[in-house]
This record gives sequence, C-alpha cells and structure tokens, in this order.
Amino acid sequence: MQKILLLGKNGMLGKALAEALYAHEVVAVDKSELDITSATAVEKIFAENNFDFCVNAAAYTAVDKAETEIEKAMLVNSEAVGNLAEICAANKIKLIHFSTDYVFDGESNEGYREDAIPNPVNAYGKSKLLGEELIQRSGCEFAIIRLSWLFGDGKNFVETMLRLAAENPEIKVVSDQIGKPTYAKDLAEATKNLIQNWQSGIFHLTNEGETSWFDFAQKIFELKKLPVKVIPITSEEFPTPARRPKNSVLLNTKLPKLRNWKEALEEYLRN
Ligand SMILES: NC(=O)c1ccc[n+]([C@@H]2O[C@H](COP(=O)([O-])OP(=O)(O)OC[C@H]3O[C@@H](n4cnc5c(N)ncnc54)[C@H](OP(=O)(O)O)[C@@H]3O)[C@@H](O)[C@H]2O)c1
Repeated sequence: MQKILLLGKNGMLGKALAEALYAHEVVAVDKSELDITSATAVEKIFAENNFDFCVNAAAYTAVDKAETEIEKAMLVNSEAVGNLAEICAANKIKLIHFSTDYVFDGESNEGYREDAIPNPVNAYGKSKLLGEELIQRSGCEFAIIRLSWLFGDGKNFVETMLRLAAENPEIKVVSDQIGKPTYAKDLAEATKNLIQNWQSGIFHLTNEGETSWFDFAQKIFELKKLPVKVIPITSEEFPTPARRPKNSVLLNTKLPKLRNWKEALEEYLRN
C-alpha cells in the first residue's frame, strides 16, 4: 500500500482516480481544501505527511477561456505544477501528472508518439506544456500522462451531445478534427497499474481507435438509440476562441494499451 496525495479530487479524472486508488492510503483534496497555487499550503501538506506519490489531477481546463485568462492558466498549469515538482524532488516523492494532446499542433498525419516535439496552438496547450517542462527540469521522478477527449463523471462531450439531443432534432458537429477519446475510469485504472508497476517518463494513455467529433457524436446517438440527425461541419464553420489541433491522435508505444473507445463509451452510457 502506498501513501498518495491526490490533487483535484472533484474533477472528472480526480473522481475516477479516487475510486480506482481505494486500496491505497489516499489523502484526496480539491481546491477548497488545497489550492495548488498556494505554495505555503502545498508545503504544509507535504510537511505533515510522508507521501510516496503525488497524483495531480488539478488543472485549469477551460480551453477557450484560457485565451483571455492566460495568466490564470499559467499560474495553475505551469507555476503551481513546477512548485509541486520541486517539492516532490526534494522529498523523493514520485509525481504523476496529467497533460494533454493540445501540446501538439495537430499537423501530423501519423499521430504523435511520446517523444514527438510539442508545438501548442492555444494558450491552454502552452500552459500545460510549460508545466511538463518544469516537471522535467525539477529533477523529480515523474510520470507525465498525456490524454485526450476525456469523458466520465463531469462536463464532457458525451453529456453535451445528450443535452443537445434532448432539445434538437439536428445537431451540427465538427468532422475535421481527429483524436482519441479517453474514458476516465480506464485511465484511472491504468494509473493505478502504473503506481503498482512504476515506470517514469512521458506516456500517452487514451482509449484505442481514432475518431472525429462527428463520428463520436453519431456513436453516442446510435448507442442511446436517439433519432438525432448529425450534420458534419468544418472547424471554420464552428469558430471557437481557442484554435484546436486538427489531428491530435496520441500514440501509445510504451504502456499496455487501453480498450477501444467504443467499448468504453458503451459501458459509460450503460452506467
Ligand atoms: N477534459 C479533457 O478532455 C482533457 C483532455 C486532455 C487532458 N486533460 C487533462 O486531464 C487532467 C484532468 O482534467 P479534468 O477534465 O478531470 O479536469 P476538471 O474536471 O476541470 O478538473 C480539474 C479540477 O482541478 C481543480 N482545480 C482548478 N484549479 C485548482 C487549484 N488552483 N488548486 C486545486 N485544484 C484546482 C478544479 O476545481 P474547480 O472546479 O473548483 O475549479 C477541478 O476540480 C488535467 O490535467 C487536464 O489538463 C483533460
């Protein structure tokens, strides 16, 4: 049994991690209990406990808002993460941190291996990339897990589609962005396995199989047997404050692969 500090316990991934890590001694906190941007509060919790691992699921995740709140995004996703990593280095605590496909520009046709060169196209991606770099510079033992298109218990694409379907017979969905959905429960299980069979480095963990948002939406309605017409549109027809990478497929060449996203989606919708 490991003693683990879980940060961001009320987030979509945080909730799944809290469930998956039940067999360990977990101190789970959210922002109201520990704001990771408060260096004093962070130092205090580490001084009061002998953690083996710090699992950081806390993050600033408002991708579009980050364009105008870049300082806030940097504070949470970069500066606070760098501080955490330094404390982990000083105390020999292993740090598991989550990052994103949005560190890549999406111009690759083959997808991105773990060692591909990042080049974020939006403020959120830049803040997450700097967080990754500060961890690597800190000298701590780390696992940075990049994921994409997360769904689970929280605000996510699947829930948005189901909400829209309740009000609209037709829904327009972007068809020219390709990625890999990730079920929070599967990622949390894989994180638990990584704690048990520790490896450090940068990892890509998503469900297998790539899709577009359009095909993802169609699959949701097919599984829920909802008679919704999904109309494909281009990214240009659906402008957002933050630019999104076109092809942000994360290739997992290092860890056991997760099951196909369709199987994971089916389970998520059943529950
Ligand atoms: N969602 C995706 O599609 C996606 C894709 C790629 C990567 N990721 C990465 O995966 C990880 C988990 O994402 P998620 O979707 O689970 O995010 P989420 O649901 O937004 O959860 C993030 C949690 O962090 C908390 N938080 C924010 N600022 C904090 C602070 N200063 N101190 C402590 N806690 C703070 C939030 O609390 P409040 O709600 O109270 O602010 C929230 O509970 C993040 O690193 C994210 O960058 C997510």
